[in-house]
Amino acid sequence: MSSSPTGAAARVPRHLAIVMDGNGRWANRRLMPRVIGHKFGVDALVRVIHACRERGIEHLTVFAFSSENWKRPQEEVSGLMNLVLVAVSKYLTRMANDGVRIRIIGDRARVAAKVREAWDHAEALTAGNRAITVNVAFNYGGRWDMVQACQALVRDGVAPEAIDEAAIAQRLSLADAPELDLFIRTGGEVRISNFLLWQAAYAELYFTDCLWPDFDELALDAALADYAARDRRYGRVKKDVKADGTPVSFAPET
Ligand code: IPE
Ligand code: IPE
Ligand code: MG
Repeated sequence: MSSSPTGAAARVPRHLAIVMDGNGRWANRRLMPRVIGHKFGVDALVRVIHACRERGIEHLTVFAFSSENWKRPQEEVSGLMNLVLVAVSKYLTRMANDGVRIRIIGDRARVAAKVREAWDHAEALTAGNRAITVNVAFNYGGRWDMVQACQALVRDGVAPEAIDEAAIAQRLSLADAPELDLFIRTGGEVRISNFLLWQAAYAELYFTDCLWPDFDELALDAALADYAARDRRYGRVKKDVKADGTPVSFAPET
């Protein structure tokens, strides 16, 4: 994984992850069913994808359905599955035309065939796009990701002494994405909820009370401004500066 550039460009994250939380409460406050909150959540996601693209963010990874969300009432789970089909049929063409590449990360085995086919179609149609890559975490858990990477190590016959961080990272779902820079969670909870555990190691964390359906360009820019002011030290003491006073970029592995 390469280090970020220095200067003004370094202030825009290359890779942003978002836990899109608060849909249910947003709906409850309006005396509406939770699934309506999810529907408005999809609209918020579409807005945010385009805003991220305009701001030069290369990878956006969003938590859409966690390994643990199966524990919700059956009605909500099926409402969410159905929403995938609705969202793909409503927004996919526009995404594809706008240069958005969609990729799904997560355990597809337990997902219904219809949903899997919708995701497969979205991935295939947008595979050649490069304006922004949107990784949709669906039936995803950070622990699941590490387990499946371990399984791949064994399957590939990697010797114990040959296992290092790179060997694991190469087998994680986001193997070819740049280092995670910024991790946002909306909805007021201050926890990771089994999202990108490995990648969160040196990401900057940002929590906001804003409920996901209300998250707009203004809220995104507030998070990006906060990120831009952070001092990422990666274990060092202070920011190194070159002879001309410009900061030397930090990379986690150097
Ligand atoms: C996040 O919103 C979306 C999913 C988990 C699918 P929630 O549904 O968790 O909303 P709250 O946290 O109950 O408000
Ligand atoms: C995390 O939100 C999962 C998604 C946003 C998809 P949850 O609402 O499921 O997380 P907890 O239960 O508050 O930890
Ligand atoms: Mg929640």
